[in-house]
Amino acid sequence: MRVLVTGAAGFIGSTTAELLLDGGHEVVALDSLVRGTRNNVPVRATFVEGDCGDVELVRSLGSFDACVHFAARIEPADSMAYPETFFANNVASTFRLLEALIATGLERFVFSSSCAVYGDQVEMPIDEERAIRPHSPYGQSKRMVEEGLEWLVRQGRLKAASLRYFNAAGGTAAHPERHTPEIHLIPIALDVALGRRSHLEVYGSDYPTPDGTCVRDYIHVSDLAEAHSLALRALETKPGLTLNLGTGTGSSNRQVIDTVKKVTGREFDVQYVERRAGDPAAAVASNRRAKEILNWIPTRSDLTTIVRDAWAAHQTP
Ligand SMILES: NC(=O)c1ccc[n+]([C@@H]2O[C@H](COP(=O)([O-])OP(=O)(O)OC[C@H]3O[C@@H](n4cnc5c(N)ncnc54)[C@H](O)[C@@H]3O)[C@@H](O)[C@H]2O)c1
Repeated sequence: MRVLVTGAAGFIGSTTAELLLDGGHEVVALDSLVRGTRNNVPVRATFVEGDCGDVELVRSLGSFDACVHFAARIEPADSMAYPETFFANNVASTFRLLEALIATGLERFVFSSSCAVYGDQVEMPIDEERAIRPHSPYGQSKRMVEEGLEWLVRQGRLKAASLRYFNAAGGTAAHPERHTPEIHLIPIALDVALGRRSHLEVYGSDYPTPDGTCVRDYIHVSDLAEAHSLALRALETKPGLTLNLGTGTGSSNRQVIDTVKKVTGREFDVQYVERRAGDPAAAVASNRRAKEILNWIPTRSDLTTIVRDAWAAHQTP
């Protein structure tokens, strides 16, 4: 297949592009580099620097059998400050991309959605039937794209899968988890363990969770990448899919920190500070549907393996 991977200079996009290349597919990697880095793009991919909403540019790339669309701004807190930027970049650009791709014959589209579409839920685990109530423009931007895709599928314009990731983590030596700014707990904790930061701040220790810190469902980026490959195959026979990608197991911030200390063998300073606006107490997936429909079995997503892989990947300067 000839596959367009947008956001392929980022964490999950680069790892997935690598897997698609391993599978013998031709990959065109499109990224504006607003966040990712050029050297993160797999060397076997054809790299195009540009915005995914640039219709002329996308049309000039020719036709694709499939597109896996990772390109987005991902910082929920920034989206509270600049909602317009998130709707322009994550929503408007996505529909311009779709317009250009459908005009050149695209059949299958896999979209990076997020558990942020569920907002703050009390009952865990969360399945795909749960009421949608995003509580940030970031989560809303993901839901708006999902809704547009549902219309496109209904009208027979293309086949599409919305994959709602919980917390992507882990990493490979070629593609470590690195965001600028970094907002994720594990890479920040590893930076502290390496002495690249002085201490770790944990937002909130009075949540209604077993140890008072937030609980998240960490999913290894390699397992996520595999799910994309399986979703592309599933779209051969199914016109539309909406699937959670997580493990069904929650880990609290304290558990993650203890695991980082154990894996790295290093002690470091942890400071518990005020809650951060917009953080739900818990987010844990029911992954039953993804397992059934994709025949997907996460194999690297227990917390120790995630932290071990992230630590190995993080050693690179
Ligand atoms: N990391 C997570 O835990 C997580 C969880 C749920 C959903 N997601 C979604 O997964 C996707 C990938 O996340 P990531 O962690 O790899 O982020 P990332 O920031 O590492 O990668 C995103 C990439 O998209 C590029 N980009 C952004 N806007 C663009 C545009 N308009 N045109 C072209 N390129 C553009 C950036 O330069 C960057 O390389 C995002 O859509 C994100 O919302 C991530």
